[in-house]
Amino acid sequence: MAYAFVVNSDPTQLLSALNSAAAHLIGGGLVAFPTETVYGLGANAEDELAVAKIYRAKNRPADHPLIIHIAHSSDVTHFAKDVPDYAQELMQKFWPGPMTLILNRSEKAADFVTGSQGTVGLRVPNHAVALALLLAFKNQGGHGIAAPSANRYGSVSPTTAKAVEIELGEFLSDDDIILDGGPSEVGLESTIIDCTAGAPRILRPGAISAEMIRDATKLQIKQASDATIRVSGSHQKHYSPRAKVVIDQIASVGEGLIALSSEQTPPGAIRLAAPKNLDEFAAVLYAALREADQRNIAVVHISAPPGEGLAIAIRDRIQRAAS
Ligand code: TXA
Ligand code: MG
Repeated sequence: MAYAFVVNSDPTQLLSALNSAAAHLIGGGLVAFPTETVYGLGANAEDELAVAKIYRAKNRPADHPLIIHIAHSSDVTHFAKDVPDYAQELMQKFWPGPMTLILNRSEKAADFVTGSQGTVGLRVPNHAVALALLLAFKNQGGHGIAAPSANRYGSVSPTTAKAVEIELGEFLSDDDIILDGGPSEVGLESTIIDCTAGAPRILRPGAISAEMIRDATKLQIKQASDATIRVSGSHQKHYSPRAKVVIDQIASVGEGLIALSSEQTPPGAIRLAAPKNLDEFAAVLYAALREADQRNIAVVHISAPPGEGLAIAIRDRIQRAAS
């Protein structure tokens, strides 16, 4: 497995790393790459054998659909059709960004990438390396990169290249590539919005909040509770570390604690993170859970941050980590 540092590399090196990564994708290989939410494990979305490698590396059930990453909203129509006006508004407003839209698929989004559903998940990520990779890939004839979070099925999403290597290193081939673009800024997976009905419906909360969606579309947002669509992240055990996660209790000696900086650390407890605000909380949560596992901490306490917007997404992931 090749490991390419693209942060701080000079423009010539950067370009050559991205061109070889794109060529590797076109050739049917896997490339892990940074996005602003979490790191993704990518393959050419139109190459069945390449996409199968993602499922193998992640040990992910074959009926769980993948998000296809595209360079620009104009690429949506390659993979999707019947795009409603409100979805156009969302794309205009929040792409590139931490938002995935579920749309009716075109014949280019095959069963092997959509888990045989009639819909497809699409996203334009907001990360310089991801966008440059998508452009290089497009220049070499590609249309979209299918990429789930670059972790083994059920475990915590990686927010650094190092975390990808620890999660998946042994399951990648010698010529597969991990692009290092620094820590993911948002730190939580994208908001997933079903755009196949008359109004948007949030399937997974994220940094793009219900309020932002409401403001952009002027529509009433439907809740996800009646979702019949398969979203692997909605399964009970997901986004989980090895450590047992406990919410809103008091940490004892030798137990880990993740809480806002305004909260004190009880004597003997191990402070894993002390974010100053919600943005920081989201950005450090997964790294702190990984650190707990690396340090063999058996129990991690998390104090759930109150509030709306990003706090809803943080509490959602904390609850999943604890279940
Ligand atoms: O931020 C993110 O979304 C990251 C980065 C890498 O882009 N990706 C990510 O992918 O979180 P993944 O596969 O770990 O989670 C994607 C979720 C899954 O729960 C999947 O079931 C859902 O999106 N999904 C994908 N296509 C779908 C579809 N057609 N209908 C319903 N859910 C879909
Ligand atoms: Mg995932």
